[in-house]
Amino acid sequence: MNFIEVIENKRNKKALSEEEIRFFINSVTDGSVPDYQISALLMAIYLNGMSDGELSILTDAMAKSGDRVDLSYIDGIKVDKHSSGGVGDKVTLAVAPMVSACGLTVAKMSGRGLGFSGGTIDKLESIPGFRTALSEEEFVEFIKRDGIALMGQTKNVAPADKKIYALRDVTGTVESIPLIAASIMSKKLACGSDSIVLDVKCGSGAFMKSFEDAAALAEKMEHIGRANGRSIYALITNMDQPLGRAVGNALEVKEAIDILKGIGPNDVTELCFIIGSFMLLAGKKSDNLDQARQMLESSVKNGSALEKFKRFIENQGGDPRIIHDPELLPSAKTVITAKAPSDGTVTSIDGEKIGTAALTVRAGRILKNDVIDHSSGFVLLAKTGDKVSKGQALAEIHAPDKETAEAAERQIVDAYGFSGKPEAKKLLLGYFDREGLHIDQNKY
Ligand code: URA
Repeated sequence: MNFIEVIENKRNKKALSEEEIRFFINSVTDGSVPDYQISALLMAIYLNGMSDGELSILTDAMAKSGDRVDLSYIDGIKVDKHSSGGVGDKVTLAVAPMVSACGLTVAKMSGRGLGFSGGTIDKLESIPGFRTALSEEEFVEFIKRDGIALMGQTKNVAPADKKIYALRDVTGTVESIPLIAASIMSKKLACGSDSIVLDVKCGSGAFMKSFEDAAALAEKMEHIGRANGRSIYALITNMDQPLGRAVGNALEVKEAIDILKGIGPNDVTELCFIIGSFMLLAGKKSDNLDQARQMLESSVKNGSALEKFKRFIENQGGDPRIIHDPELLPSAKTVITAKAPSDGTVTSIDGEKIGTAALTVRAGRILKNDVIDHSSGFVLLAKTGDKVSKGQALAEIHAPDKETAEAAERQIVDAYGFSGKPEAKKLLLGYFDREGLHIDQNKY
C-alpha cells in the first residue's frame, strides 16, 4: 500500500478503509514512514474528521500497536482516569492518591504536555529522582503492593500514540475530536484497567471550547470504552479559566501537595472530589456520589491520601521529602509579577493564553525535542471574580531569565479580562454513562 494515497484519500474527504488505517498505524509503529508524511495525514484527519467506524478501528489499531498490560490477575477493580488536557490541571496528582487511600487500585498511563496544556508525566518529572519510565513488571509490582502506579508511555505500550502525540504537539493538529479520542482511549485500553473516568475539559483553557464539542468527544470515548467492556464515565468539566492557581510543572506539584493537605485552592480541590467520587463509584467502592465524597474528604483529613502520595513517590524513585519541604522542588532563577493595568474586577482569564505564555517560559514544548524547564510557570494571584486595583499583582511569573519572564508578563496581562460580568459556571457541566448524557442543572 502507498502512504501518499492514504494521505490523498483523507485529503479528498474519503473514509479510510480498515486496511488503510491499520497500514497507517503499522507504518508509524515500525518507523517505516517519515514524520512529514505522518504529519500530513494527521492534518488531513484534523481538517476532514473521521466517521465513528474509522475512529473505532484507529483506536483499536493504536491500542494494539504494542503490548497490552494484563492486570487481570490482580484482585479487585482497577480504575484509570484521564483528562483531555487543560491548563493548571493537576487533578491526577492529587486524586490518584486520594482514591487509592480509599481502597481503590489506580493503574494509570499518562502523557506529556500537549499544545498549550500541561502533562502529568512532565509534572511528576519535576520531583527529583521520580521515574515515569516503568517496566510492565514494576508497574504491576507497585499496583500490587500499594494500589497505585503511574507510568509514561514506554516504547512497548501504545507506541503509535506516543509517536503521533509528539507530532500533533508541534504540528497544529491537537484539537481534533477523533485524534484526541483515539489517543486517550488507545492508552486506556492498552493499560488494562476495568473502569475508566474521563475528564473532558470544556472552555478557553481546553482543546474543546464549546459544550457541544466537549460533549461529542465525551460521548465518543464513552462509547469506545463501553464497546470494549469497560465501565466508564465521561465527565464534561469547566475549563474557562486555569484550574487552581499554579500553572507549570513543579509549581503544580506544590499545589497538588496543598490539595492533599487540605489547603489547596477551592476550585481544583472541589474538582478532585467530583472526579474522585466518580472513580469510587466506577470501582464499586461506593454506591453513591455523596458517600464517595465523604470518603475522599476523610482521606485528606486523616492524612492517608498524603501518605499514599508519599508511598507513590518513593516507589517510583522520587524524593518523598518534597511533601514537607516543597523547596526541594526545582525553583526558578527569575520571579517577577504581572500587574493589573487598571482598577477593576477580573471577569475572565483566557486559559489558552495562559497556557501559551507557559510555553514562553519553557514550561512546555514548542518543538518536539525541546527540553522543558520544570521550575517555570505562574501562580495566578487574582482569579475570575476578584477585585483588583491598578498596579496590584495579578500573577507571579517564574522563568529561566528576565527576557522570557517579561515576554510572558505581556501575555498574562493580555489573558486577563476586566469587562462585563464574571460568569459563574459550575465545575461539572454533565457526564455520559451507559444511559447517555446527564445534565442536572441543580446538582452540578
Ligand atoms: N490526552 C491524551 O492522551 N491525548 C490527547 O490527544 C489529549 C489529551
